[in-house]
Amino acid sequence: MKRDFISLKDFSSQELLNLLSLAKQLKHNPRQTSDYLRGKSFALIFQKPSNRTRVSFETGIFQLGGNPIYLAPDDISLGKREPTADIAKTLSRYVDGIVARVFSHRDIVDLATCSTVPVINGLSDRSHPCQAMADMFTIQENFRSFSGLKLAYIGDGNNMTNSLLIASAKLGMSMAVATPMGYEANGDYVKAARECAAKTGAMITLTNSPQEAVLGANVVYTDTWVSMGQEEEAAKRLKDFAGYQVDEKLLSLADKNHIFMHCLPAHRGQEVSGPVIDGPRSVVFDEAENRLHMQKAIMVFLYTFKHS
Ligand code: CP
Ligand code: NVA
Repeated sequence: MKRDFISLKDFSSQELLNLLSLAKQLKHNPRQTSDYLRGKSFALIFQKPSNRTRVSFETGIFQLGGNPIYLAPDDISLGKREPTADIAKTLSRYVDGIVARVFSHRDIVDLATCSTVPVINGLSDRSHPCQAMADMFTIQENFRSFSGLKLAYIGDGNNMTNSLLIASAKLGMSMAVATPMGYEANGDYVKAARECAAKTGAMITLTNSPQEAVLGANVVYTDTWVSMGQEEEAAKRLKDFAGYQVDEKLLSLADKNHIFMHCLPAHRGQEVSGPVIDGPRSVVFDEAENRLHMQKAIMVFLYTFKHS
């Protein structure tokens, strides 16, 4: 049976640990694994702009011997030119896998349901699992073990927050989320994270206070206040998020050996100050690099593991 990479909720803690160790192997021995995808083609469907996701997937597929086919928003016009189900069924006759960046999470679920090849979520309005796993890999490189760590997420309770909640809880890392009222993380993801955390010993905390969340944190994470597709709300959001910027004053409350993370693209002077994102504790370009290694691991996992 094929396996998709839509949500981290669908993967066990052990599977996430396996992905982390595969990503490490691939990062350190890139040549050893160069033909895992030989002869395989991948459709990369993008409804939104992208730097990291597009380039790291195209490069990763190439490095594993496969062939990436980029489909820009106007090429197939997901859900407009023909039904998503027909796109999924058609593409399944040509390619061996689909990576999709979509507005509505429903579209990625429909693509996965209607295609006979693995579908990988390259970001939806609900989640960004590839980024969250690359981030877990980056955290592991810095701290080795997840247990006993605290990740503080400050800002918008968005797709990134949802995926980080599941990844942290499944890997046993505590997470404190500070959002303004009305911008909380998705309730289903919070509930699922709390259920996983109860098994792994992690603590999931929600607050409106950035100071409370950051206190003693080993990892401090933020993301844009205006995600792709929310441009019309920009003025209101910039007002509502005042006081939620990650700056040096806020970070003085974190553990002294903390790292700063951001999935990028970043907005200096909004969710993060310039000195923080460009400072010595920032690992944002390691996160960006690790997208490549983690996504190669995800593709190798989907194609070489026996899934019953
Ligand atoms: N972090 C991330 O997904 O970046 P892109 O939007 O550039 O792909
Ligand atoms: N929350 C951001 C993440 C970008 C990688 C967005 O959806 O635009």
